This record gives sequence, C-alpha cells and structure tokens, in this order.
Amino acid sequence: MLIKKIAILGGTGFVGQSLCNRLSEDGYKLKVPTRNREYSRGNLILLPNLELVETDIHNSENLKKLLVDCDAVINLVGILNEKGNNGKGFKKVHVKLIENLISACEINGIRRIMQMSALNADAKNGKSFYLKTKGKAEELLFSNSVGIRPTIFKPSVIFGKKDSFFNRFASLLKVSPLFFPLACHQTKFAPVYVLDVVEMIARAVNDPDSYDKKFQLCGAKTYSLKDLVRYTSDALGLKCTIIPLNNIVSRIQARIFDFIPGKPFSTDNYLSAQTNSICECNDLFRYNIKPTAIEDIVPHYLSDYEYSSFYSKFRNDS
Ligand SMILES: NC(=O)c1ccc[n+]([C@@H]2O[C@H](COP(=O)([O-])OP(=O)(O)OC[C@H]3O[C@@H](n4cnc5c(N)ncnc54)[C@H](OP(=O)(O)O)[C@@H]3O)[C@@H](O)[C@H]2O)c1
Repeated sequence: MLIKKIAILGGTGFVGQSLCNRLSEDGYKLKVPTRNREYSRGNLILLPNLELVETDIHNSENLKKLLVDCDAVINLVGILNEKGNNGKGFKKVHVKLIENLISACEINGIRRIMQMSALNADAKNGKSFYLKTKGKAEELLFSNSVGIRPTIFKPSVIFGKKDSFFNRFASLLKVSPLFFPLACHQTKFAPVYVLDVVEMIARAVNDPDSYDKKFQLCGAKTYSLKDLVRYTSDALGLKCTIIPLNNIVSRIQARIFDFIPGKPFSTDNYLSAQTNSICECNDLFRYNIKPTAIEDIVPHYLSDYEYSSFYSKFRNDS
C-alpha cells in the first residue's frame, strides 16, 4: 500500500497542526477539512502541499467527496465535552463519524485509517461517554469487513505550546491565584509531548508492522493531577494553595460545572478521571522515540514573566 496523499480529519487542531507540519516535511500531500476555513487556517495555509477544505464531514456525501483522491485517512476529530449530557454528541462525533468514514473509505478504495483514541477508551468498560464512544470507534475499525488496516493511537494527556491541559490550568490558576480547589487530584497522568506523538504517527503511516495495532503513548514520567497543577502554579510564579477535593465534592463540582458555558470541567470529565491515564507499556519506544520531559518544554510556553520567574525559583533554590 503506497501512501502519497492523506486526509487529516481534525487536522486544524492542536495535534493536527503539528502533524500537518511533520507530514508535509516528509513530502506527503495533505487534505484537511474544517468547519470554518477562515477561523481554522492558522499556519496551515503556508504549507504548499496542503489543501484546506471547508466542509461538514458529518454529511456522508461530503465525506465521500473529500476522500476521492486520498490514499489514507488520519482521524484526529474528538471532543471532550458535548452540548447536552446524554452522550448523543459524543456518539455523533466519535462513533457515527467512524461508521461514515469506513463507508467513505470503502467507496474510494482506501485501506488505511489511523485513529487518535485515548488511554482507557473501551466500548464496554469505559467510565464516561468520552471513553465509551472512543472505544466503540476502535471496535468498529478493528472489526471492519472492507479490508481497512487500522492503527490506533492511545495517548495520555498531550502537552505542547497550544495544549488545552497546562494552558487551561494556567488560565484557571490566574483567576484563582491564592486557593485552588482541585477535583480528582489523585488521578495519575503521564503527559506526552505533541511532537513525540506526531513523530510516532509519521513513522507508522507507511509501516506495515503498525497495521491492526493499538499503541499506548506516554511521557517520560507519571504525575498525580495535584503534582501537575502544583508544577503549573510554580511555573507561573504563583504561591497558590491547592485544595484537594474528595470524591463526593469532586462529583458535585463537576455537576455544577456542567451548567457553565464551555464546561471547564464536567461530569463526563470527572468519570474519565476515575481511571489513571497511564500506559501499561509505552509504545513510543517501539519506534525508538525517547519521551520528552514536561520540564524541558512547558516553561517555554508560559509568558516571558512566568518563564523568568520559574527559573528564578530554581536559582533561589540552588
Ligand atoms: N489533547 C490531548 O491531551 C488528547 C489526549 C488524548 C487523546 N486526544 C485525542 O486526540 C485528538 C486530537 O486532539 P486535539 O487536542 O488536537 O483536539 P482539538 O485541538 O480540539 O482539535 C480537534 C479538531 O477536530 C475538529 N472538530 C472538533 N469537533 C468537531 C466536530 N464536532 N465536527 C467536526 N470536526 C470537529 C476541529 O476542526 P475544525 O474546527 O477546523 O472543524 C478541531 O480542529 C482528539 O481525538 C482527542 O480526543 C487528545
């Protein structure tokens, strides 16, 4: 299977932009759909071999048309929260899209799909709608009967300049710099660097050994959520007291936040965080990728003031 042109669904997002840059360097032609071309174009329009197409990929005819001249698909589309609370939004974005994608690939003779899932995604045992629907997408891809060779990537939380993890906690900490109530503080994460993730995907694209495999992707170290928020607070130069919430209060906080526009935290997030997001075996090593430490990257993408104050802390410590 020789892959030259790849459709990257969700290619305008945090992971997607890095992936497009990386695959463009390898000489692939790329096609990236977006719901809003003006809003999403970012640096992507500077890539000469990338076509940005405004379309609704939930419309099966649009999806078939989008894939007409492609050899493979990488699906990065995902949501952490839905508008309602009944799972319908997650099903539409994570499950229905994959059903349509498999049909669109069959019609266009495409036999390669790479799918971004998540650690703990599991159609039956997933704790949240997010994890259940991501797991269902994995099942659909692995049980396809049209000859598609899938590869599934299952990362812990991903960090990098425009991430929604450290940046989200940084903006929340700035609003509440003295005391910070923290739900699910004991949950463990192994944050993985976005450039390590895209390197793994880039190496897997044309590697038959990656067909029909699931890869768990983790960073250099495991931290509790409390450690990570403490780290972010230190990086911002704040002297914030983190107040760990017990499980019942965490759930109540999530229920209240369900009603806040944009859902900074939700019941579904709370349920996802009931399981540690850590690897049984870090598959980055299969491709000889050494995981990058958060300490080498995260301080650089906080503001200049925050950056210098972070290092002055260590100067004072030494
Ligand atoms: N970031 C993490 O820490 C992390 C951890 C584990 C797994 N993942 C998974 O990795 C994938 C990429 O994550 P990311 O952080 O790069 O996500 P992101 O920045 O939110 O980007 C996702 C992209 O998907 C498209 N999209 C979102 N909702 C859509 C919808 N309802 N219909 C159609 N398109 C939609 C958007 O494109 P347009 O707005 O241009 O249409 C967006 O650019 C996701 O599947 C996510 O679940 C991420």
